[in-house]
Amino acid sequence: MSIDEIIQKENFSKEDIIKILSVRKSSELDKIKKAAQKKLFENCGAKVYYRGLIEFSNTCIRDCNYCGIRKSNNSVKRFFLDKENVIDAAKWCADQGYGSIVLQSGERQDSSFIDYIEEVVCQIKKITTSDTLPRGLGITLCVGQQTKEVYERFYAAGAHRYLLRIEASNKELFSSIHPPDQNFSERVDNLCMLKDVGFQVGTGVMIGLPGQTVEHLAEDILFFKEHDIDMIGMGPFIVHSKTPMSVYEEDNKKGSEAIFQQSLLMIAASRIVLGDVNIAATTALQALKDDGREQGLDFGANVIMPQLTPVEVRKDYLLYENKPCVDENKEQCRYCLERRILSLGREIGVNAWGDSQHHKNRLKNSVSADNA
Ligand code: 5AD
Repeated sequence: MSIDEIIQKENFSKEDIIKILSVRKSSELDKIKKAAQKKLFENCGAKVYYRGLIEFSNTCIRDCNYCGIRKSNNSVKRFFLDKENVIDAAKWCADQGYGSIVLQSGERQDSSFIDYIEEVVCQIKKITTSDTLPRGLGITLCVGQQTKEVYERFYAAGAHRYLLRIEASNKELFSSIHPPDQNFSERVDNLCMLKDVGFQVGTGVMIGLPGQTVEHLAEDILFFKEHDIDMIGMGPFIVHSKTPMSVYEEDNKKGSEAIFQQSLLMIAASRIVLGDVNIAATTALQALKDDGREQGLDFGANVIMPQLTPVEVRKDYLLYENKPCVDENKEQCRYCLERRILSLGREIGVNAWGDSQHHKNRLKNSVSADNA
């Protein structure tokens, strides 16, 4: 079957997805990009939604083989932002018309960490509720695996979206990049738990992992579908020199152009196959190409996460090296991004949560099933 025929389909087999992900000819790439844009506009509209990203702590109990802030990396200066600092950044965000924020950190499960998040979420909701934002800022958490009770507390405090990447939906590949205490099925159970609690659930994978094939990537997209995922964040794997995966540094550098192209195709294929999900154009794309995030938006992404982390600590939150914009303050980030998005002919969703259309459809479908 030709690419023209595949992109017209409603349901996609693994083979169809592999074909989309394997395209290299520029005329075919262009067709895929157009098909992804069409699917995006039909399902979600032309708006790009901002989530101000606040990385509030780089302390982590996990030791992921790929991550620069893994607990064994002794060269990282650990930080934990004061509540006031985080709340001020959130307030700034609301004042600029960004409808949502993401609070991200390394993983911890102790009670002072959990209490801190609960309180910060409550406070942010309280001070950002206004006539322009009647439900306050939309809050997404990305703070690792927790118990169901903790997820419930976070949800009750007012967070309504949660990001927990599966990193690789193939069990063996997952095990090859994580230490034995991180269990694939447990991670999948956590995604189900988050959905049960009521969160809009986001997940995603890294692209360009050693041993990863195009079959794995096609399975990743089918995993998102099978688990009814609302939001997707994916990006290129970029080697950090202070991790066990630094042995792949040379290959990773040599392959970076191919990994970048594969990442754009993953965004487009996810959009074409899944239709109504939110997809983020992630910072890691920009680490490989100055206009990487804009290209991500052009290939079907509709969410972008401007950096709000205070410049003083940004250099300590390096999950990978070459992270862009570590010196730019939040105002500079804002103007730079605005210009870039408008130049793509897209609009910016101001003072709106920009929830995943998939989540809305998911709720609608469950109500009509109940009434049937
Ligand atoms: N390269 C690319 N992405 C990375 N992440 C962590 N380390 C790296 C890396 N070296 C991603 C993981 C994690 C997210 C917060 O950052 O996918 O879930």
